[in-house]
Amino acid sequence: MRKKIVAGNWKMNMTSDEATNLVNALKADLGNFREVEVVVCPPFTVLGVVSDLVHGTHIDLGAQNMHWEKSGAYTGEISAGMLRELYCHYVILGHSERRQYFGETDEIVNRKTRAALAASLHPIVCVGETLAEREAGQVDAVITRQVKGALAGLSAKELLDSVIAYEPVWAIGTGKTASSEQAQEVHALIRKLLAEMYDETVAGGVRIQYGGSVKPGNAKELFGMPDIDGGLIGGAALDAKSFIDIVRAAV
Ligand code: 13P
Repeated sequence: MRKKIVAGNWKMNMTSDEATNLVNALKADLGNFREVEVVVCPPFTVLGVVSDLVHGTHIDLGAQNMHWEKSGAYTGEISAGMLRELYCHYVILGHSERRQYFGETDEIVNRKTRAALAASLHPIVCVGETLAEREAGQVDAVITRQVKGALAGLSAKELLDSVIAYEPVWAIGTGKTASSEQAQEVHALIRKLLAEMYDETVAGGVRIQYGGSVKPGNAKELFGMPDIDGGLIGGAALDAKSFIDIVRAAV
């Protein structure tokens, strides 16, 4: 039985004061909540603050990106070891905004994924097609390429330590969510791919989140689909009540 996982991707938002208020509100409601795995992914600048706040609760900490090397002359970058030092358990990798604005390719995402796993971080590996790709009938081809590329060389154990997030690019920040059927169809495709790459048992153990305009009003239906194991939440994760409602919709 896969435990549902709901993660908040704060993106480039939240000052230290704002983060403190948000996390305190989350803690008051979800601090001892065990039915769903809850993760918050603040920007680097407040990881330390949030790390201290969630210490001793059931809320886990994640980062939004990292470099694949352990250390060195990579100005502006952060390593997996640095994230571990702040008690991060998760790291979002290959988000479409990283692919679109910062040129991340499947190969880069793969390097980062392997580096994260080597440092005992759980990668949340994002995949998803653009609207143009969907309209051109390329969803299967794009998702297959991204999944195989990002996960190349992972052992079964490493795959089980990873989370996959399906985030159709056209649904991110647009208010246009994929219908639960559209999302389920791609989640099932991803699981079938994993079964081909590994086996049915391994594929059945991997958690696949949906992301893209998840709100309290649509979360329950999405999370109720057989292959949707939770969500990666952007805008709605910045508001305590919305995020808490979404987490509770996963029960
Ligand atoms: P929104 O929930 O704002 O659409 O963002 C989704 C996302 O990109 C999460 O990583």
